[in-house]
Amino acid sequence: LDRYCVFGNPIQHSKSPAIHAMFASQTGQTLEYSARLAPLDSFVPSVQQFIAEGGKGANVTVPFKLEAYALANHLSERAAIAGAVNTLTFSDGVIVGDNTDGVGLVRDITENAKTAIVGRRILLLGAGGAARGALLPLLAQQPASLTIANRTISKAEDLVQLAHATKTYRGEIEAKTWQDLNGSFDVIINATSASLQSEVPPIPYTVFADTSFAYDMMYSDGQTSFNRYAEQAGARTRDGLGMLLEQAAEAFFIWRGVRPQTAPLFAHFRTKGS
Ligand code: ATR
Repeated sequence: LDRYCVFGNPIQHSKSPAIHAMFASQTGQTLEYSARLAPLDSFVPSVQQFIAEGGKGANVTVPFKLEAYALANHLSERAAIAGAVNTLTFSDGVIVGDNTDGVGLVRDITENAKTAIVGRRILLLGAGGAARGALLPLLAQQPASLTIANRTISKAEDLVQLAHATKTYRGEIEAKTWQDLNGSFDVIINATSASLQSEVPPIPYTVFADTSFAYDMMYSDGQTSFNRYAEQAGARTRDGLGMLLEQAAEAFFIWRGVRPQTAPLFAHFRTKGS
């Protein structure tokens, strides 16, 4: 039986074991997927232990994505740019690191929510790990412009430099503070962790037009504070449940070579919550 798991701390509320069990039954794959609590100071030994037990791959969540990046012997380009790894594959003593978060975000926006990024004006809020992971997959869509706004402007400027270094993007890219934001955007993505504290980045209402699409990478059973704000400003909204499912589907595809469908799971988790 091929074994997979997710490492995190805390981990007890992770939906990943349920998600991957559903993907496995949907695609007729036989595998085991469990949640593993890694002690905060023992991520690497925990992974090595799992490899010794015959583990084939693992997802990595908070707070270990940077350590997973450092641990990998080989990195995908998107993981190298993200500076973080959420998907590990173990084969013949080699640890391969990938990052499926950004592609999961883009797929949820473009395919599930049927909202184009190509040729549109995109506003990315935040410049931490979540924003960085989204950078390359967003630019690959060739938006007309990408504006990165963050509380700490220097971190947004670092992401702009990183975007220039990828050399594949031909549109405009700029860093802004909240106060500097002017005009409206077609797609506004919240990659700050402000929603965790029920806070909203202090962006002007005017960034939202009534044709704007607002996406909160966070998700919750109720509406996130960011999406409540965006809806009051007239935008259409979506939370990060779809991104969670799509990043999992991409990891499943990397490991098993089969792409599961996320729509049935979206309906399941939206109504049942767990
Ligand atoms: P993650 O992995 O979730 O991205 P992170 O790397 O710690 O976590 O980044 C958190 C992001 O949320 C940062 O952009 C942070 O802004 P700073 O770079 O200025 O620290 C942003 N953030 C966190 N709390 C916030 C709040 N209450 N209001 C606005 N931005 C916030």
